[in-house]
Amino acid sequence: MKLTTEDETQRESRNEHRADSPAPPFGKSMELFRRAAEVIPCGIYGHQSPAAALPGASPYYAERASGSRYWDVDGREYIDFMCGYGPIVLGYGHPEVEEAAARQRKDGDTMNHPSARMVELAERLVDMVDFSAWCVFGKNGGDMTSWAIRVAREQTRKKKILRVAGAYHGIDPWCSHTPGGLIEEDRSQIHTFKWNDLESFNQLIRRHVGKVAGVVVTPFHHPSFGDCEMPDNDFLQVIERTCHDEGIVLILDDIRAGFRLHLGGSHRVFGIKPDIICFSKALGNGYPISAALGSKELRVPASRVFLTGSFWNSAAPMAASLKTLEILERDDVPAKLNALGLRLKDGLVALGEKYGRPIVASGPPATPFYRFADETNFRDWQQFCAIAMEGRNGLAAFFHPHHNWFLSATHSEKDIDQALEIADQAFVTMNELPR
Ligand SMILES: Cc1ncc(COP(=O)(O)O)c(C=O)c1O
Repeated sequence: MKLTTEDETQRESRNEHRADSPAPPFGKSMELFRRAAEVIPCGIYGHQSPAAALPGASPYYAERASGSRYWDVDGREYIDFMCGYGPIVLGYGHPEVEEAAARQRKDGDTMNHPSARMVELAERLVDMVDFSAWCVFGKNGGDMTSWAIRVAREQTRKKKILRVAGAYHGIDPWCSHTPGGLIEEDRSQIHTFKWNDLESFNQLIRRHVGKVAGVVVTPFHHPSFGDCEMPDNDFLQVIERTCHDEGIVLILDDIRAGFRLHLGGSHRVFGIKPDIICFSKALGNGYPISAALGSKELRVPASRVFLTGSFWNSAAPMAASLKTLEILERDDVPAKLNALGLRLKDGLVALGEKYGRPIVASGPPATPFYRFADETNFRDWQQFCAIAMEGRNGLAAFFHPHHNWFLSATHSEKDIDQALEIADQAFVTMNELPR
């Protein structure tokens, strides 16, 4: 494909910017970030920090979002493949969800008591999740994973928690990814084993026999900066059996994948039964809500572990969640996400072959991770994503270079095809850059 003069100009400006950021295309983002750096530690911290994406080559601030698209503060439009890092499962501003939340807000949101929505939502979730007898709510995923390990300790009166190395479960000291502010004691009862390595799991079980309260796993391994790994053969089954035999509480962290693979919880895809499952992200289509559901044996210990927050019983996110679950079921959203994800995957893999840069796709198509097959340092893949984020004619694709992507039910086949056109052009542009 021949580059137009406009593309040439854009390319030159990108090259200039690489040598000498900040970039002109993200001027307002950069200016906001400069102000933020004065008053907010890191300017933007956590998973949305530019340092975790492509500093200088991706937007830092969003202006608005609708359906499968969002617009940054510089007015660029993106076909979105991150969905707010997962919560947006039906599309930004889904009218039915917004209507349910608005109606509830009018009646009352944060009040002196929970609303009937809380009971309705707990009933609905307990109906959906096969092994569960009860349900509690929080705001963020980490609220639930941290509470769940305390329930495991309360049930077993044991201290140790086993978790998979490199898995993300939130920011609390037992699982935080960075060492800032931690003391040795925070982790003295936390032990990690390797994903898909039963020997490393069994070693921990043997070494700490009779001392383990809980094991925390995700349904598949989805580290940042690394391929997603599905569970091997009987990996999760052996863990489940061991937990059962040893009286250990098995906690499934389904915060990232939950409701995108199976509406009954991702354990249904992989054939295990945990004792507690934690959800958040897709549960409220962007409204702040998380949930933990557990087996009847854990009802009493669950009632003994204190759980609350000023906003945790607020009614509007629960109304949004009820509507989200209704639509997920009505429209068989997991099947739709899978089909869209396959279209994207097939298209990207074909483009990789066309341009002689094979692409590795890992993880379920609804939450995929992509990289170039012939590099592990992500250097060219970052460049490819940066070019896609620069887009063409005011339309870009938000391709995250190091994190798994997310699809939503409002993505259309046309969205996917347009994103593939942007990807095609990104290959052309990349191949013409000096190496
Ligand atoms: C698997 C998993 N567990 C827990 C969390 C923590 O959730 P939150 O950031 O909502 O506290 C996340 C967030 O990305 C996650 O992906």
